[in-house]
Amino acid sequence: MTIMQIVFWCISVLGNTGASLAVYYTGQPLYWVLLAVTLIYTAIGLYDLFLSRHTLNRLYPVVAYIRYFLESFRTEIHQYFIASNTEELPFNREQRTLVYQRAKNQRDTMAFGTQQDVLAENYLSLWHSLSPTTVKPEYERIMIGGPNCTQPYSASYLNISAMSYGALSKQAIEALNLGAKLSHCYHNTGEGSVSPYHLKHGGDIVWQIGSGLFGCRTQDGQFDENEFKKIAHLDAVKMIEIKLSQGAKPGHGGVLPKSKISDEIAAIRGIPKDRDCVSPTIHPLCENPLSLLATVGQFRELSGGKPVGFKLCVGNPAEFLAICKAMIETEITPDFITIDGAEGGTGAAPVEFSNRLGMTCLDAVYLINSALIGCGLRDKIKLIASGKTASAFDLLAKVAAGADVVNAARTMMMALGCIQSQSCNTNHCPTGIATQDPARGKALNVPSKGQRVANFQKNTLHAFFELVGSMGLDQPRALTPNMLKRRGPYGLTVSLGGVVPLLGVNQLLGHSPLPAPWNEWWQLASSERFYVADKQYLHSPELFYRSGQTQMN
Ligand SMILES: Cc1cc2nc3c(=O)[nH]c(=O)nc-3n(C[C@H](O)[C@H](O)[C@H](O)COP(=O)(O)O)c2cc1C
Repeated sequence: MTIMQIVFWCISVLGNTGASLAVYYTGQPLYWVLLAVTLIYTAIGLYDLFLSRHTLNRLYPVVAYIRYFLESFRTEIHQYFIASNTEELPFNREQRTLVYQRAKNQRDTMAFGTQQDVLAENYLSLWHSLSPTTVKPEYERIMIGGPNCTQPYSASYLNISAMSYGALSKQAIEALNLGAKLSHCYHNTGEGSVSPYHLKHGGDIVWQIGSGLFGCRTQDGQFDENEFKKIAHLDAVKMIEIKLSQGAKPGHGGVLPKSKISDEIAAIRGIPKDRDCVSPTIHPLCENPLSLLATVGQFRELSGGKPVGFKLCVGNPAEFLAICKAMIETEITPDFITIDGAEGGTGAAPVEFSNRLGMTCLDAVYLINSALIGCGLRDKIKLIASGKTASAFDLLAKVAAGADVVNAARTMMMALGCIQSQSCNTNHCPTGIATQDPARGKALNVPSKGQRVANFQKNTLHAFFELVGSMGLDQPRALTPNMLKRRGPYGLTVSLGGVVPLLGVNQLLGHSPLPAPWNEWWQLASSERFYVADKQYLHSPELFYRSGQTQMN
């Protein structure tokens, strides 16, 4: 017997006997209560010992429940009492507090100096100028729209990233859209299509079309041109985004079980209610680079010339070069490319996919920027980046790495009140945001949360422009990768791009020699298929320095 089993038998036998005798001789109500408690304790313990399926309950009767109870509050206990300001993931307390302060228009300054370890490896920082300036109002927005786009869109530097109605409650969607309206940024629908809650407050919409083709499909899952046109021509829809993959689960499709398909969701997505709805891992209209670009062209035409782009998380760089080759061959270019980092969020994903797949945002943005420069296409395409944007510095780092504008998902949820309980996949979201439970959703006050989203967006942008000005620049477009400093091993500080330089204009087109990995990737890439075998060894910068070369090749 374990000690807890012995304790159980002692408490049961002595407790029941003692309480029974006390009741028998005194009859006082207090002893009746005591007897009831010991009897309940005994009943639970006997169940645990002889009937429970859990080893823990059998070996530690009754007390095992204390463990389960505490475990259910683990995240909260850790967050509230144990974690320091800078240690939690995905977002630490310092980041969350900053979002909450900016969302509530509260004081967002800090006292007594930084809590960050500014000497830590990988720590990112900037050089300020002794001649700070201010960003001019005419540089506060970016125009998205390439040569074939007839309805270009003037975008804010910070926008609301894709999150569907389905993953989020209708109230959360409404509040995000109200926030977009009040702060004049766009709101991406996510792949669950455009719902009435996206349209109620008049915020600008980016309609995302994933592999399920929600909102523009026939009942059997084929592309429906007429349905597409109906949504694409809505005034609120400013841009259209084809979703190839997402940082938190690249290469993974989705299943919406039929139990979760309400009449409303079935109507919005254009799916039947009598079976599970499966989103394939590969987009049916974009099975290879050529068909991806044909779809971009087709969507642009059917939408009357609105900006059309695609979203992806980068894996093998050669596969992105395959898309570049297709752009050159077809002469069709997307108006924008959204680059989602591996550090990105999701409502639900397999752990291995979230933890181990995909390129992180800054690396991917730097790479795609370089590839587009190398193909001579950079001036036709805008880059949108997403991956953990909590502060103005997070925004600035992405722009410096090569992005034009930035999307944020989870910090927008925090502006709505999300407390990072990490229960988006349980339907029990404690803040009524990532849930379809009507009672929880109703608790979210749309007008006040919409205002908070707008406050967060505006205050972060204000801090961003100030930060840009402190570097002596009067426009964010003047930011370049070298301005982002990373502390490397041995305490050395290296600029982004200091180890692997950006390609020169048209360098991939044969105008000057290519460094080794680019050369191999370019040779292997084909516009006819995405897949390129990964045969490259990545060399560490240390080896590169030791070899005494000035360029990686
Ligand atoms: C609850 C939730 C739902 C999401 N749904 C989608 C989606 O439908 N389509 C998509 O492309 N990305 C989706 N994402 C990913 C985000 O749009 C974004 O790319 C990613 O979270 C990185 O941004 P963040 O770090 O600011 O959260 C979702 C993220 C979250 C947290």
